[in-house]
Amino acid sequence: MSGLVGKDILSAFDFERQDLFRLFILAERLKEEINDFGILNYAVGKLMVTAFFEPSTRTKVSFQFAMKRLGGDVIDFIEEVSSLQKGETEEDTMRILDGYDPDVIVVRHSKPFFPHKVKDMVKAPIINGGDGTNEHPTQALLDVYTIWKELGRVDGVVIGMMGDLKYGRTIPSLSYMLTRFNDVTIYFISPKELQVREEVIKKIEGKVTYYMVEKPEDVMEKLDVLYVTRLQKERFSDPQEYERLKGSYKIERAMLQKFKRLPIIMHPLPRVWELSTDVDDLPQAKYFNQAKNGVYIRAALLKEVLGV
Ligand code: NCD
Repeated sequence: MSGLVGKDILSAFDFERQDLFRLFILAERLKEEINDFGILNYAVGKLMVTAFFEPSTRTKVSFQFAMKRLGGDVIDFIEEVSSLQKGETEEDTMRILDGYDPDVIVVRHSKPFFPHKVKDMVKAPIINGGDGTNEHPTQALLDVYTIWKELGRVDGVVIGMMGDLKYGRTIPSLSYMLTRFNDVTIYFISPKELQVREEVIKKIEGKVTYYMVEKPEDVMEKLDVLYVTRLQKERFSDPQEYERLKGSYKIERAMLQKFKRLPIIMHPLPRVWELSTDVDDLPQAKYFNQAKNGVYIRAALLKEVLGV
């Protein structure tokens, strides 16, 4: 039986190397089965609650698709029409949802460590669907799964992570997950003000090789993967700082075509202005495949956590 049965998934560090390879293989198998049969019957009789206290498209919907594809059912808690509007706390809300006995709860919150805080108040396993600027472990799962599919390996990969490395939560989780592989090199590419946080560096120190650079042009031809992220506008306390940094980087087709060798291009999405739509039909553009991979890898994760 899998080591993830009944486990809370709060951090990318909750996955060991062997868990990751097992999930990748399972995701590939589920993809084929889903293509053949549409809806499977592994999770019949199981219920998943999605409790998102912050906006989401891909994470929530791909979890819902994943659960339905497994044959399970989904209850979506919608904040805007809930008793939170009457002043109920989010902690009480979580207790109530858990009291209805779901088999798993996926939670997203703007406060870092919210899932860690509520995990002991609830019986169901909690999956972190993004907690403020802290982490987004299942995004890292689909990111690394995409790298593994596209490049055929993760060991030895050279990746440039570009954009808002300070506030973007996909960056810590992806960096942490890459420590489970050998000989990984990360170039953190951003204006100095948006560089990756010290607490993140501390956790990867000695486990990957990393460099901090300001311009993607300087490292482009060394990269196997360029991982672009948006400026996290909602997390800037000073709107003027957002405006000032806004123009500081953008990936466009004309800029890419100057290079002899191009990496695959990934993005957790949503993109705003940092990744031009004229890149979309380059063969290296993988972000829509990446988003789609989210359904299969989340189905694999749910299957293991549910123990079905
Ligand atoms: C990311 C998130 O929510 O952190 N989105 C996602 O889940 N794909 C990235 C972002 O919002 O920039």
